[in-house]
Amino acid sequence: MVQFTLNGVRVTVDADDDLPLLWLLREQLGLTGTKYGCGVGVCGACTLQVDGQPVRACQTLTGTLADRKVVTIEGLGDGGLHPCQRAWLAEDVAQCGYCQPGMLMEAAALLARDPDPSDGAIDAAFAEHVCRCGTYARIRAAIHRAAAEGGR
Ligand code: FES
Ligand code: FES
Repeated sequence: MVQFTLNGVRVTVDADDDLPLLWLLREQLGLTGTKYGCGVGVCGACTLQVDGQPVRACQTLTGTLADRKVVTIEGLGDGGLHPCQRAWLAEDVAQCGYCQPGMLMEAAALLARDPDPSDGAIDAAFAEHVCRCGTYARIRAAIHRAAAEGGR
């Protein structure tokens, strides 16, 4: 058993300590917004936030979550759209969309620690995110838009 906060709600889960968070969310808790891409920590599709930091759910074990705060794409907007999500829509970022939950979770974490990131800071934050549709330029534009609108 492990207790942690998931999208603002305290949860108790009965799962093996070595179960990756990605599968706990998708298979046991029904939260399928966090995507499975590579399963080995190199694509970024499964990115979410633990205690405000962007982490890979496929590389995060359930046993490490006790008393931590997990936020997934389903909880990012806290009841509405997060400023990054509004900017994503305004810049028409998504193509197939598969990588985008991870991109948004990374973007929100970036803006929380750096309210006005440079292109270099954005590129560094997304260096290990793969988008097969090539949305990188629009992601950069959307982050600048969210920053300009004070989006955190
Ligand atoms: S599925 Fe986790 S990094 Fe690719
Ligand atoms: S929008 Fe298709 S993989 Fe990124």
